[in-house]
Amino acid sequence: MKPGGARATRTAPVRVWPAGVSAVVEVLEREAGRSGELVLRRSGAALEVILNGAFLISTANEVSSRAMVTAALPHLAGDALEVLIGGLGLGYALDEALAGGRVSGVTVAEYEPAIVRWFRAYGEGRAERAAAGERAGQATIAVADVVDVLKARPEGFDLVALDTDNGPDWLVREANAGLYSEAGVQLACRALRPGGAVVFWSPERYTGFERSLAGVFARVERVSAFDVVQGRRHEYTMYVGLRDDARREDRIGAEAEGGRMGLTWTEPGEIAWALIDAHPDADPLDLNFVDLQRMIVALPDFGDDPDEASETRLEAVVVAWHEQR
Ligand SMILES: C[S@@+](CC[C@H](N)C(=O)[O-])C[C@H]1O[C@@H](n2cnc3c(N)ncnc32)[C@H](O)[C@@H]1O
Repeated sequence: MKPGGARATRTAPVRVWPAGVSAVVEVLEREAGRSGELVLRRSGAALEVILNGAFLISTANEVSSRAMVTAALPHLAGDALEVLIGGLGLGYALDEALAGGRVSGVTVAEYEPAIVRWFRAYGEGRAERAAAGERAGQATIAVADVVDVLKARPEGFDLVALDTDNGPDWLVREANAGLYSEAGVQLACRALRPGGAVVFWSPERYTGFERSLAGVFARVERVSAFDVVQGRRHEYTMYVGLRDDARREDRIGAEAEGGRMGLTWTEPGEIAWALIDAHPDADPLDLNFVDLQRMIVALPDFGDDPDEASETRLEAVVVAWHEQR
């Protein structure tokens, strides 16, 4: 459940009710689902899905839901990517996968038939784009447990984006506990093609879960994403597990040739240190993203694609810079 229609902060059950929930709440649909009572409702401008009284997803979670895909894309090579998303929710991750131009096939496994129906009826532009993707054979929305799809398609995907729950510590469906166990993480990893990545949406950092990821993947990255709910910013963590460590291999290769890999967008902390050295008097909170991007790209050690900057990445640099000053 995302907090306040926001995947929440972790001061309350993960996706918590937003402070000052709008009094104007319109229940659009209510249904006995496979996991319990599902409610679709409009709260102010937000569309929210509630499962057994807990926030499952809200339109306020758009940024972190899209980050399930954007956090991984820089790590993936090629323009014919196969993507698996579990589950559909309000369809933001699906929309993001279809938007990038690098995905040739996206499968969404959604456990609740009502969520699929509601997406088609209330998903507006996202639902239209998804339907176009289905007609073109690029997108498939299946009513299925994502665990079954992972089992059925070993080495089937370049990206597996898992957002079934409010993180490893707060399950919407108890039956999903296995997905976050070491066996579940291994199952997800086995569904990857060489060079592939798994992304887990998480409301915060979990040491035990990080240990499981580190034990299975060649490399694990944390990417922050921020949803703004009723004026309050909530930070979420996208755990990106890479089946192979291409960067390490590139670095070893470059170093063997006497070269040196530069800073990449996946190293906000390192970028922040370099910015502090280069601009000791600058305050990151005073900068707009255009200027910040210009400063990063101008760093002598910067070695990534300037066009791969995103709001999420620039925000991660701002946070690191602010904390490290
Ligand atoms: C937080 S929402 C996903 C939001 C989605 N990332 C988006 O972009 O809108 C979680 C979804 O996962 C579904 N779900 C939960 N357990 C599942 C499972 N084992 N397999 C497939 N879908 C599942 C829920 O019904 C719900 O629709």
